[in-house]
Amino acid sequence: MRVDTDFEPIETERLLLRRSTVDDAEAIAAYRADPEVARYQGWDRVDLESVRTSMAEMAGRDPGEPGWVQFSVEEQTTGRLVGDVGLSPDEEEPGVIKVGYTMAPRAQGKGYATEAVRALVDYAFDTLGADTVIAYASAENLPSHRVAEKAGLRLVRRFEGRSDDGTTWRGVRYQLDHTDRPRPRPPGDGPTEDSIPREG
Ligand SMILES: CC(C)(COP(=O)(O)OP(=O)(O)OC[C@H]1O[C@@H](n2cnc3c(N)ncnc32)[C@H](O)[C@@H]1OP(=O)(O)O)[C@@H](O)C(=O)NCCC(=O)NCCS
Repeated sequence: MRVDTDFEPIETERLLLRRSTVDDAEAIAAYRADPEVARYQGWDRVDLESVRTSMAEMAGRDPGEPGWVQFSVEEQTTGRLVGDVGLSPDEEEPGVIKVGYTMAPRAQGKGYATEAVRALVDYAFDTLGADTVIAYASAENLPSHRVAEKAGLRLVRRFEGRSDDGTTWRGVRYQLDHTDRPRPRPPGDGPTEDSIPREG
């Protein structure tokens, strides 16, 4: 796996993924503090100061280094920050990259998370050289499952975890191996030579 010391923002059809900075903390803290957004998230503290600290810490790493790095997701037409996605090499499984994603409530339901996560997964494979990309989610977080599925990941495991306060929670692991990556979508999604059934 590689470390990307030269990250260039990633453009998708409607979005721009760029490294998050401390200046993004206010916008991120605002939607991360929403109870519906925070419900299934791993962030313990979403007050502005804590988010600032965590942005500064993540901005100090290059993607592919141990630890999470975060990308702010901007809507290209407005330049507004609409969410964030992140990735981290798995500490216990070499070659595996974990991804995470969050959209501000007003930006949900537009396919933005799917679009951003697809780009993030491509980046993890193509630039960082990951063998496998995974996403963990709460078993109840159906929108998150759907985003993982639409980005090509498949449900591989259900598990029960115990939080620090002793409560148990049910989780799922979604996964995509490099060798199972879907073929690139052709322009216009039309049939390709490969997708046309051959006789014989
Ligand atoms: C998960 C999340 C990022 C999805 O963002 P989004 O931009 O709305 O996602 P998309 O628009 O790309 O839609 C993803 C799919 O989820 C589906 N979905 C949305 N809400 C749903 C619900 N309550 N139940 C089932 N499916 C749902 C959408 O219909 C869509 O699937 P479809 O295209 O087949 O219809 C967003 O809900 C969020 O930020 N949640 C809070 C943070 C969080 O839990 N993050 C994940 C942690 S693992």
